[in-house]
Amino acid sequence: MSEISPSIHSRATPPSYSPAQIGLHWLIAALVIFQLVFGESIKDYGHVLRDGKTPETLVWLMGNLHIWVGVAVLVLALARLGLRVARGAPAAPDALHPHLVTAMKSVYVLFYVLLIGAPLTGLAAWYLGIHISGEIHETLKPVFIVLISLHVLAALWHRFVLKDDVMARMLPTRR
Ligand code: HEM
Repeated sequence: MSEISPSIHSRATPPSYSPAQIGLHWLIAALVIFQLVFGESIKDYGHVLRDGKTPETLVWLMGNLHIWVGVAVLVLALARLGLRVARGAPAAPDALHPHLVTAMKSVYVLFYVLLIGAPLTGLAAWYLGIHISGEIHETLKPVFIVLISLHVLAALWHRFVLKDDVMARMLPTRR
């Protein structure tokens, strides 16, 4: 594994993710999964409000949780992106084919776009009533599911087929 050294992109390639990067990865992953599982709650809340009725406590709570967890994802993703730019990330294993490295990096870029784009489109739809924004927001759900599935399969492939350290370096136990 390489020492901390400037890469050709003038960004550092540290030998491991920092505890903050690892903590943010898992916190954001948990929040995103919560949003995907309970995402329908905001629709129920919206329907009740549109009908001019008073929402039941659970509908109110789950609807508001969707908004606040979404805002948390946005803030945490921006913090994570800042850390990523400032500190960099460990290099891909040398044995990995360059095309796979490109695919892996593309998935990460797409993840960051989604992590920032999903909350922003949701907020614009809810508070500004921009219909198309709500349509985009809903379309992002299956995109997220496909990306997460690919990402998890890739992590397991690294762990059990390639047997490299890619999975281990994102785990909190490895210090
Ligand atoms: C559910 C939402 C998830 C999102 C949005 C997500 C997103 C990301 C992103 C953007 C990165 C790149 C980090 C960087 O260099 O900036 C990453 C790395 C990583 N993720 Fe996830 N992840 C999720 C779930 C998971 C799960 C469930 C696993 C394990 C099964 C996992 C395993 C990993 C590993 C091992 C890396 C490090 C890869 C490397 O060092 O190149 N992730 N994840």
